[in-house]
Amino acid sequence: MNVLVCGGAGYIGSNMTAMLEAAGHTPVVYDNLSKGHREPVKEAKFVYGDLSDYDCLLRTFKNFEIEAVMHFAAFIEVGESVNDPLRYYENNFSNTRTLLRAMETAGIKKFVFSSTAAVFGTPENTPITENESKTPINPYGESKLAVEKMCGFLSQTGRLNYAALRYFNAAGAGRGSTLGEDHCPESHLIPLIIQAAMGKRDDIKIFGTDYETKDGTCIRDYIHVEDLCSAHLLALNRLDETPEQIYNLGNGTGYSVRQVIDAVKRVSGRDFRVTETSRRPGDPPVLTSDSTKAREILGWKPKTPQLEKIVESAWKWHTSRPDGYKG
Ligand code: UFG
Repeated sequence: MNVLVCGGAGYIGSNMTAMLEAAGHTPVVYDNLSKGHREPVKEAKFVYGDLSDYDCLLRTFKNFEIEAVMHFAAFIEVGESVNDPLRYYENNFSNTRTLLRAMETAGIKKFVFSSTAAVFGTPENTPITENESKTPINPYGESKLAVEKMCGFLSQTGRLNYAALRYFNAAGAGRGSTLGEDHCPESHLIPLIIQAAMGKRDDIKIFGTDYETKDGTCIRDYIHVEDLCSAHLLALNRLDETPEQIYNLGNGTGYSVRQVIDAVKRVSGRDFRVTETSRRPGDPPVLTSDSTKAREILGWKPKTPQLEKIVESAWKWHTSRPDGYKG
């Protein structure tokens, strides 16, 4: 299938592009390089384009005979979304609306959308099933939920078959640890701890040690980026027969911030300074996924569920490319 990968030059998108190629599909990366990098997708077909550019999208669909769209191009910083909500509504919501309109015009029905555990806000029950109530606590989560709802309404017209995949905490590096995280600025826990282990920062700060969790720090469900991507592939293959698919994607095991720090210490064999600071606004204490639905319906089975293995792949990536793609 010819698949347009919007945001294909980013962390998860570049891993998806590699996996699509390996599975015999033809990915076409569509990216404005505002966050992503050209290098990881230098062998793929590439369109330098913006999601707000309706005409460019239509031309791209036609030129590459696109049959399905996977959409990873979004802003992902919760804190930034609180400070600048309109930026998130504009990119994550309005630009996705433009993309869907262009797909509708071109008669392309198949759509796989990157959603997030942030749609659940602070959940009442964990692990979280798809049916948990959706009450986002920040503009980031709200912008993703709004897209999910837009897709739901559009699918009811018969003009869209979509899958919304709600990621828990994507981590690790794919394709033999050659496709990893390179965000600027970096805000995610595992890369930041690794930077501390590599001596690239003075310490790692724990945001909050007074949560009602076993060691007082937040608990998250870390999922290897290639396991996320394999679920996309399975969902893509079902789009012909299913107008609407929604799955939570995680391993179901929660690790505290302290446990993740310990895992990096073990994997790297290095010690570094850990500083306890106050809570980061907008952080729910516990987010873990019940992914039974994806396992049962898609037959999805994560290959790298162990935190230590996920950290190992990230460690290999960061130490082999200390300056990221620009190095
Ligand atoms: N944390 C620290 N110190 C840091 C960075 C993070 O203690 O320097 C803590 C955070 O407070 C949080 C945990 O580590 O408790 C994980 O934080 P991340 O920033 O790595 O990830 P988040 O859980 O905040 O968010 C990620 C994605 C979102 C997505 C969410 C869904 O970035 O896009 O997972 O679970 F919505």
